[in-house]
This record gives sequence, structure tokens and C-alpha cells, in this order.
Amino acid sequence: MEGLRTSSVSSIHIPTSISKTQFNKPKFLNFQFNPVPTATFSRKTPSQSKLFTTISSSPYFVSTPEPELEADSQAEKFDWYAHWYPVMPVCDLDKRAPHAKKVMGLDIVVWWDNNESSWRVFNDACPHRLAPLSEGRIDRWGRLQCVYHGWCFNGSGHCNFIPQAPPDGPPVSTSKKACVAVYPSTVHHDIVWFWPNTDPQYKDIILKKQPPFIPELDDPSYIKITGSRDLPYGYEVLIENLMDPAHVPYAHYGIMKTRQPKVKADREGGEPVELSIKKLDIDGFIGNQVQFGINKFIAPCISYADRSPVVSLFNGFFIKNLSVQKPSMQRREALIFFCVPVSPGNSRLIWAIPKNYGVWITKVVPRFILHSVTNIVLDSDLYLLHLEERKIMEIGSSNWQKACFVPVKSDAFVVGFRKWLNKYAGGQVDWRGNYSGTLPPAPPREQLLDRYWSHVVNCPSCNSAYKGLNALEVILQFASLAFIGIAGATKHNVYTMVAMAVVCFVGSKWLDQFIYKNFHYHDYDHAFR
Ligand code: FES
Ligand SMILES: [Fe+2]
Repeated sequence: MEGLRTSSVSSIHIPTSISKTQFNKPKFLNFQFNPVPTATFSRKTPSQSKLFTTISSSPYFVSTPEPELEADSQAEKFDWYAHWYPVMPVCDLDKRAPHAKKVMGLDIVVWWDNNESSWRVFNDACPHRLAPLSEGRIDRWGRLQCVYHGWCFNGSGHCNFIPQAPPDGPPVSTSKKACVAVYPSTVHHDIVWFWPNTDPQYKDIILKKQPPFIPELDDPSYIKITGSRDLPYGYEVLIENLMDPAHVPYAHYGIMKTRQPKVKADREGGEPVELSIKKLDIDGFIGNQVQFGINKFIAPCISYADRSPVVSLFNGFFIKNLSVQKPSMQRREALIFFCVPVSPGNSRLIWAIPKNYGVWITKVVPRFILHSVTNIVLDSDLYLLHLEERKIMEIGSSNWQKACFVPVKSDAFVVGFRKWLNKYAGGQVDWRGNYSGTLPPAPPREQLLDRYWSHVVNCPSCNSAYKGLNALEVILQFASLAFIGIAGATKHNVYTMVAMAVVCFVGSKWLDQFIYKNFHYHDYDHAFR
């Protein structure tokens, strides 16, 4: 990581004059970037990477006549289908069953090929009559079986059994048309990734291009807290939110402890946040956060934030005296978010939080408790973001800069992301015409904030805790009845028995609420926080 901190001169240029723009609202924070080499910083090993750490002191409030965030027809174009996409953490995939996932609007099935000991990603449609293979099973020979008519496929997508085909008839199963489309896939940083193109020319794409390498995720001296959640807002809003530290004291008030300013201007303790973009190109951007360190957006999916001197996301520990510690002794932590485009209005967050201290936390605290805390954090701004996205869609995402007023440096990363999106990536995810462009209807709040289908069913830790606690609730209810029954039948120790019955009954009621709030729905009312 220290290699990443090599200084270089920033190529950033911030215009210094204020002028009228053609927009209704003045534009601020319009970074103008000098041409930079299109280095693939995010895909190099640490020793090859360089960061730009010079912080500009240029006057800040600027506006230029040109809409900086509009698409640049001269710029290199980002190909959304020429990148690896994370699908799920391996620890959250059951090897015994196929799993349905949607990524980039593509329906895929992820399954464990026991014969080759590797995860496979197929198009989730049987070549026979398009039934979803994810509803199928893995048979005792390790083949993926479509459960509609029993066709079976090996890890290469070849059909090797059609039950209805007579053994002495034509070898229909060897037909090319009987094969399933196979996506290239790999496991990297304990996550299954896939390449969203089934063209055979990409079969060995992993030899030419790997998913981004993140040193902390491969460092055995770090522990990492991982998980995933499906979210009812789109990829763009998800990335923006994760790159926006200024919202934390407000949207997550009472949940996430943040560094408090010396002089508090309000109860929540918001303060100026010095963010700046140091380099932006087709591969994303590198930014600096004065208080905490570097941030990176590694296009299209990764938001990386160094949080070493910061309050921990989960337990509020503030790490002091970092500057006097030897680098080898420094407590380090990063927030790494994999933001997966699912479909318009839907995204998936996979988080990985590596840290080289507090190793006990993953040994002592059950994973479902850690997930419960993360889910509260995600819930507390979920509804805001769901509605915000609708407003953006109403005005059109290309008009984002016209509608939003972003006058302070704390929005620099959000503006940087929008700039990348508009300049290189066509202004939005390329769904290849699979969607009309409108968002799905907004479901009721309780459904939006649902945790069960968006997380628990996909998380073995939460799922087993959910089942175990439900069983305990039933046991407590039975125990309560049993104590009453014993008291009535024996007439001995009646008070003790009744007290025990009450304790069990109250315990079961408390557990019922605990289960509901942690595994189904936990509303968050900002007004009364
Ligand atoms: S649809 Fe899959 S076997 Fe018929
Ligand atoms: Fe979980």
C-alpha cells in the first residue's frame, strides 16, 4: 500500500473564474482535467501503480461556459461489456445448488462444477425450451440438470444427456444447439466474477485481463468482513452514495460514529470535507480525502476508500497517533465496495472491509450480527436514494449537472463519477436496449426495506441464524405452555412455574421482534432520531 502513495504532480486544473453558464443553475465544482495518459492504474500491481497526492489550492468556486459533465464525443469509449463483474462472494454460494443472479441485465446461473472444481456461470436458460437452469439441480454426476425435462450439461455447457432421446437414435445431444451459453468466470479475492460476453473468442480472456487487484484483499495479515445485499436503486446512485462521506453524520445519524469537529455547528457534527480528484481517465479516478487518504473508483464496479485514520464503520474506534506509528505497525482499514449493475433501478452491493487490527472481531462476533449492523446502515439511506433516483430519471441522467447544485468540495467524488460516466461511459449503464429506460414501479416502503429477500436468503450466516432463532422462539413458546401445564397439574412450586412461563413468553415475544427487525424490516425514521 505504501507503494501506492508515491507522489506525482497532479494534472488537475481547476478554472479560476466565474462566468455565466448556459444552464439555469450555476455550475460549481466543474473540474477540468488535462489530458492524462490512459493508464490502467487499477489493473496494475501495486508496484506499477502511482498515485497523485498533490492537493490543489486553487480557488474553488468556479464555473465555465462548457458543460463539463456532458458526453465528450472525442473521448475514448468505455465498453461496459469488456470488463469483469463481481457476482457473489464465494462464501455466500452453496455448492450444492445452482444460483440465479442478474448482472448487467443478464440472467445468469452460477453453479459449482464438482468435476472440474470450479464455479461456472451460464446463461440462465435451457436450450431446450428456455426454462431457468437456476431452478434445476446438480445431479450425482456433477452435471447441471434442467428440471423441466431433465437435460444435463457439463461445465463446458455441452449437453451430455437428453432423457427423451432414444439411445439408438441420432446424437441430438451433441448438436451445437443443445449447448448452453457459457460466460467466462473466475474466482478472485474470494468473489466469483464473470465476463459478460459468451462469444467463444473470450473463453480465455482471463489470460489477457484479470479483475482488478486489491492488495489488502490478498494480504493474510488482514481480516475482512464481507457480505452482499440487493438494493432497490441503481448502480449510479449506489456508487455516488458510497463516494460521499459528507452524508454519513446525517443519513446514518446514531448508527455510524464519525469524527467530530472541534467546533460543532449542529448536533450531527457535519463539517467541511476536503475531497479532490487527482486523476481521471477511462479506467476511473483517483481522489484524495484530506482527513483520511486516497479514494479510487476502478471502473466500472469498485469504490475503494482508505479509512486508516478513521472511525471504524462498525464499532466506532478512533485510531489515534497514526502519524507516529511505524508504517509496519499502522492500523489500516479500507472500505471496498463492489457495485454491481443489476437492472435499471436495481443494484447489488458486495462489501469487503479488510483491516489489519481488531482481528478478534470476526472470531468473536457472529457474522450475522456484523451483517445486521451493515444492514441498518444500508437501510437508513435506502429510501432517500430510491426516491432520489426517481427524480434523476425524471429529468434525465444527462441533465444531472443542471438539476443538482454541488457547490462544496465534499461532492468532488460524485462530480468525478458523473464526469467519468458522461465522458467515457455513455452517461449510463449500457443495457443494450434490454430496458425501456423507465424505472420499475416503486413498491411500498416495507418491501423496499425488506432484508429477507435482499440479503438473508443469500447469506448462509444470516439464514442459519434466522432459522435457529425462529426455532428458539417456538421452543420458548412451548416451554411457556409447558410451565403453565406443569403448574396446573402438580400444584407444586406454582409461583416459580408461572414466573418461568412468563419469562419464556416474554423472551419469545422479544425474540419475535428481534427476528423481525434484523431479518425482515427495520424502519428508520430520521425525524425522530
Ligand atoms: S426446458 Fe430444460 S429440459 Fe426442457
Ligand atoms: Fe448476512
